[in-house]
Amino acid sequence: MTLDATGRRYLMCRPTYFAVEYAINPWMDPTAPVDTALAVRQWETLRQTYLDLGHHVEEIEPLPGLPDMVFAANGGIVIDGRALAVQFRDPQRADEAPAYRAWFERAGFEMYDPKHVNEGEGDLLLAGDLLLAGTGFRTAHAEHAHLQEVFGRPVITLQLVDPRYYHLDTALCVLDERNVAYLPEAFSPGSQAVLRRLFPDAVLATAADAAVFGLNAVSDGRHVVLPRQATALAGALRDRGYETIGVDLSELHKAGGGPKCCTLTLRKGEASK
Ligand code: ARG
Repeated sequence: MTLDATGRRYLMCRPTYFAVEYAINPWMDPTAPVDTALAVRQWETLRQTYLDLGHHVEEIEPLPGLPDMVFAANGGIVIDGRALAVQFRDPQRADEAPAYRAWFERAGFEMYDPKHVNEGEGDLLLAGDLLLAGTGFRTAHAEHAHLQEVFGRPVITLQLVDPRYYHLDTALCVLDERNVAYLPEAFSPGSQAVLRRLFPDAVLATAADAAVFGLNAVSDGRHVVLPRQATALAGALRDRGYETIGVDLSELHKAGGGPKCCTLTLRKGEASK
């Protein structure tokens, strides 16, 4: 558990233009109705939850025609004041990349550009000094080597195998500098062995927790904000001493997203986590 759990800086994007207009993951059904106004209210609750926990939230202006831009985690990854921009796999999201890049540049981060498909914090999660990097569906394996050069952190490649858990942040949540929660069967046998070796005390999620995007959670080291439907996972986390805060992001789930997808962590310098 982390003692200094306040004062994180997050970047979020209001879902003003949120919709499900195309299907680039198995959760998306463009024929099913989406309530954008409800998505905005749910998103505002998530934002307020962070503020109530003592965190700071920066906002990037949403752009019309980019219905997935609400998923700020895919806008980049920021560590030690360095921001690595993204390159989306799917053309439908391509125009989000320069918008996020411009935001990081204006905010004064040192900019780096991706060399291959890279979907930011959707697939790249900092766990202590390790950079956990997913591949298999979106972020290219070749990009992992590039990441290591940019951030100078050991990069641990994790192979995702279930299309429902297409981004690392849908299958694994970093709880604090030393521990994670994950769904074992979302990973290849070799990656499961790596996770067991690195995190022998990890919280293992059930298939039901994962299906409600329980692992798409945001932890500040003490408080874990997660979908309120993930009740078993919340119980397991409380047993380990974490405080859990349940939020309802049902509309955003229709696009295959949850709390973490809506949240990008801005790490200014070495000291700020
Ligand atoms: N519809 C979006 C996509 O498929 C959802 C992105 C969710 N973001 C995340 N960090 N997992 O790209």
